[in-house]
Amino acid sequence: MSLVTSCSTATGAYADFACFYDRYVAHDHYATWVFELLDAAARHGFAGGSALDVGCGTGLSTAPLTERCAAVAACEPVEQMARLAERRLPGVRVHRAPVTELGALGAFDLVLMINDVVNYVPGSELDAAFAQLAANLAPSGVLVFDANTLATYRGIFARTDIRVAGDVLFVWRGRCRPSFGPGERAEATLDAFVGAGPPIRSRHVQFHHPPGRIEAALRRAGLRVTESYADRSAPKHIYIATPEPQKGVRRDQGQEGTEGPADPVHHQGRLIAR
Ligand SMILES: C[S@@+](CC[C@H](N)C(=O)[O-])C[C@H]1O[C@@H](n2cnc3c(N)ncnc32)[C@H](O)[C@@H]1O
Repeated sequence: MSLVTSCSTATGAYADFACFYDRYVAHDHYATWVFELLDAAARHGFAGGSALDVGCGTGLSTAPLTERCAAVAACEPVEQMARLAERRLPGVRVHRAPVTELGALGAFDLVLMINDVVNYVPGSELDAAFAQLAANLAPSGVLVFDANTLATYRGIFARTDIRVAGDVLFVWRGRCRPSFGPGERAEATLDAFVGAGPPIRSRHVQFHHPPGRIEAALRRAGLRVTESYADRSAPKHIYIATPEPQKGVRRDQGQEGTEGPADPVHHQGRLIAR
């Protein structure tokens, strides 16, 4: 069996699927979604400065950032996706790298990593991923990302879903058991049928990261969860994390103006499904 890395999972899922991606997700309301996340980041001090979109795909999650942030950069490991992002957003620099190998791209006020990205990162690479994200955050920066819940793996990853977009028929086949357990590996295939030819298949290998494991990995990277909540549209956890404050250094907290990060809160009382 070949070694599974976050790079191999990204390539297997998106290299051949890149040209279909926008049609497949056409129903998603990116601007509303990203603006809600920017509002959440604002509660922890983000005031519209620089932003980095990690795992930007074709740039759909990056585009709303360009409307509200002073400067925007992006990062995507799959060349076919990155090229489409560049075409969508000619003014945005799209770096080629997985989250585990970002290098020093900058000290961003906001790092966004949404819509499945961390799910493709094996548990063994979680520490490297968060260390790289932390290294690219300004001392007062805010990291916002989401991670699939067990409900996602027991639901969409355990059933077949058919979708038609124009002349393409998409068939998603989840390969998980409805009893999928915490920390397990999930698999699915997505076939795109165009005309009479054979389908173009992408393979999705994902990893459930239980909240406790995510929080511990963030801590090891010098980050702490300042807010987490369950997204209302899909069973995902949203995490907002900030760098641990240096001793004696104040961190502004957006509208709240308190000293130091707040204890983790569950936004609007929504429960997190573990
Ligand atoms: C569902 S797409 C989301 C793309 C974009 N953020 C959006 O919302 O449309 C997941 C993206 O994660 C990227 N990805 C997967 N593994 C990654 C990794 N290890 N580092 C960075 N990006 C990764 C994939 O290449 C893909 O573009």
